[in-house]
Amino acid sequence: MTDAQTAAPEILRAHAETAYADELQALAAVDDRPRPPSWRLSPWAVATYILGGTLPDGTQVSPKYLGSTRLVEIAVASLATDRGLLLLGVPGTAKTWLGEHLAAAISGTSTLVVQGTAGTPEEALRYGWNYARLLADGPSRAALVAGPVMRAMESGSLVRVEELTRIPSDVQDSLITIMSEKTLPIPELNAEVQAIKGFNVIATANNRDKGVNDLSSALRRRFNTVVLPLPDSLDQEVEIVTTRVRSLGAALELPADLAALSEIRRVVTVMRELRAGVTQDQRTTLKSPSATLSTAEAISVMTNGLSLAAHFGDGSVRAEDVAASLVGAVVKDPVQDRVIWQEYLETVVRNRPEWKDLYRACRDFETSN
Ligand SMILES: Nc1ncnc2c1ncn2[C@@H]1O[C@H](COP(=O)(O)OP(=O)(O)OP(=O)(O)O)[C@@H](O)[C@H]1O
Ligand SMILES: [Mg+2]
Repeated sequence: MTDAQTAAPEILRAHAETAYADELQALAAVDDRPRPPSWRLSPWAVATYILGGTLPDGTQVSPKYLGSTRLVEIAVASLATDRGLLLLGVPGTAKTWLGEHLAAAISGTSTLVVQGTAGTPEEALRYGWNYARLLADGPSRAALVAGPVMRAMESGSLVRVEELTRIPSDVQDSLITIMSEKTLPIPELNAEVQAIKGFNVIATANNRDKGVNDLSSALRRRFNTVVLPLPDSLDQEVEIVTTRVRSLGAALELPADLAALSEIRRVVTVMRELRAGVTQDQRTTLKSPSATLSTAEAISVMTNGLSLAAHFGDGSVRAEDVAASLVGAVVKDPVQDRVIWQEYLETVVRNRPEWKDLYRACRDFETSN
């Protein structure tokens, strides 16, 4: 980093390619495998960047995505084909996170992104106009404002389309030509942009969203779909939460310690049991609340706990620090979810002797509200 950069105000959240620049550089240095056109790294090196490992020169690469190796390999391999990659899964399964890291490792930039919403206009997927210029000089290349997709086509990079299924169907369909012909027509200029090798699309879609616009089968065929699962085991989920909370805590400079690993384990257990509708020992069936209790929720409950402990507690995370956000994460619907939570509290949490403090903290929180 130069002096000018260190003196600048600190960025709250650096892009993946900046935050992990050292690892990407180390990988590029040892990577002697063939790279697809325009790729910064070989598929092997990209997978190593995502999954972590030790390089021949001793550099440690931290794991970004914790989960199946095969799944990551399939995702990386499909980006080297002429089909896009569609990451599908329930909320909080790291679709966006994985997409960002894939783009950073493959194209060196994760910033070409279209955020899909019900109001995403066609211009977001294609191009817009600088109206002052358009009025002054008429349509010209200089008056055209390229969108992220067009810039990715011109530079042979990956573009990310977030929440693809929230985009209205007719707007989604403008991706069809782009993905099958690899060209973007500009009728106003009687011209077109032809994609440079290396261009591809990573889309994410969440299969729990209400009121989504289905992908048309024509568009779906242009993607290889990879479904990101919820973590299989308690241990794996605890590991994901621990890793992420540790790095978020460090980034937010929260002066609290995470020695309280047992707290993470409890929060993740609560989430998993309510999500599955049965206790870990399979003995008691439970009702599941309306909210999706994903790993991302457990991460945010723990991060809030860390902040409470750091600023209003003694610096180590205890039951009182997680109770409030735990209740908040579970009870999204104030009527139904509250009943489900109360039942869980009284039949499960209460009966676990080692969870007494958590039971008390949750009860106290409820009565104080
Ligand atoms: N298997 C995993 N490995 C590493 N991190 C994970 C994993 N699962 C979840 N996370 C973490 O969960 C958080 C949320 O992930 P992300 O925002 O990417 O979810 P998403 O699938 O895009 O959800 P949404 O559908 O709500 O957009 C991230 O901080 C990510 O690091
Ligand atoms: Mg997302």
